[in-house]
Amino acid sequence: MNKLNSTLILALGVFVSSAVVQAQAQTPASPAKGDPAAGRQKAVAICSGCHGIPGTKTAFPEVYSVPKIGNQNEAYIVAALRGYRSGERFNSTMKALASSLTEKEILDIAAYYAQSGAQSGALGK
Ligand code: HEC
Repeated sequence: MNKLNSTLILALGVFVSSAVVQAQAQTPASPAKGDPAAGRQKAVAICSGCHGIPGTKTAFPEVYSVPKIGNQNEAYIVAALRGYRSGERFNSTMKALASSLTEKEILDIAAYYAQSGAQSGALGK
């Protein structure tokens, strides 16, 4: 093998390995991220009946103000829903609802509500 060929092979090797390193660097370290579009559908269908109306109070089992969750911090919503599900937070309504959601639905819904302008997931938005 002459000198030019081996230099070319070496250069090619360096090129290929740096391309691999770059490709790895671009792959996100993937903390699970919610999909706001998917979350919106669930939020409108399930949550907006209570959380979508400013000043809403539940009438059962007692009169209770429903907190506003539109524009709430994403991690806070995820933590709250997991908390209701595990019993760390207690509210019978939210426990039932949070328990019916999959982990992905929780992430999606939180991503949706955390968007600016998501308001409270009001119907028709
Ligand atoms: C039947 C009415 C009702 C529905 C439907 C409902 N919620 Fe709630 N939600 C409540 C009430 C009441 C509370 C306050 C409970 C408490 O004090 O812990 C609450 C609390 C929360 C909280 C905590 C807010 C805070 O400021 O700490 C989050 C987050 C939440 N709900 C998300 C959701 C999501 C997401 C959905 C749809 C999957 C949903 N809720 C559907 C009534 C409802």
